[in-house]
Amino acid sequence: MIKISQLTVHYQNIPALENINTEIHQGEMLAVVGANGAGKSTLLKAVMGQLKPAAGCVEFQKYGLKNIAYLPQSQKVDRSFPITVKEFVSAGTWRKTGLWRAFTPLLNKQLSACLSQVGLKNSEHKQIGELSGGQFQRMLFARMLIQDAQILILDEPFNSVDMHTTRDLAAVIQACHAAGKTVIAVIHDMHLVKQYFPEALLLAGRLIAKGPTEQVLTQDNMCKAGFHPAVVNEL
Ligand SMILES: Nc1ncnc2c1ncn2[C@@H]1O[C@H](COP(=O)(O)OP(=O)(O)O)[C@@H](O)[C@H]1O
Ligand SMILES: [Mg+2]
Repeated sequence: MIKISQLTVHYQNIPALENINTEIHQGEMLAVVGANGAGKSTLLKAVMGQLKPAAGCVEFQKYGLKNIAYLPQSQKVDRSFPITVKEFVSAGTWRKTGLWRAFTPLLNKQLSACLSQVGLKNSEHKQIGELSGGQFQRMLFARMLIQDAQILILDEPFNSVDMHTTRDLAAVIQACHAAGKTVIAVIHDMHLVKQYFPEALLLAGRLIAKGPTEQVLTQDNMCKAGFHPAVVNEL
């Protein structure tokens, strides 16, 4: 379980998150939802210990920071770097094996398994710059999977990804959830939230609601979170 207590995060004294109190249970599959600037990415970074809170804390029971794998927003990843898919994905294991570890038979086997799980079989020797948007996202997923972490944190994993890729990658997350992992993902598309995520956490700089998705994504809560009435009426 991850316990978030009175969590407040500032950027240069401007609050991004204020007094968040909630719990994320082990094995939960949670969508983090909120308008632009609501503090979703900030919450993920605070959970990962990348941002120091101005007040409050994040505590882990059982699995801790070492057991987190993170999928960043894809726009934040440099694609021009001259590196192959194999090198990029295996970099996910550096934290465990050290920078100068060799491509052992075990690592090669794990690499193939992860690439085939995301539908990128036989692409390991491609340059990452050659990949389409959807293939690039699949590769980010493979790098997350190879870490074999218990807690998966994903920031907008389906943004600007085509429907086919979204469906495949949503199935990958569902398989992780079925294997008992905790999944925390920022999702913009409310239909995807409803389709795939049993739990939701709604943010607007503060916590609006957290719990079963249908109880969180009510019109009342969505209005409180500052969503446009057109979006709310669609739900
Ligand atoms: N590095 C930063 N420096 C200053 N302000 C930031 C920084 N990152 C985010 N913010 C601000 O904090 C608020 C929350 O940002 P963020 O967590 O990225 O929102 P979301 O992911 O929900 O769109 C926004 O107002 C944003 O402008
Ligand atoms: Mg964000």
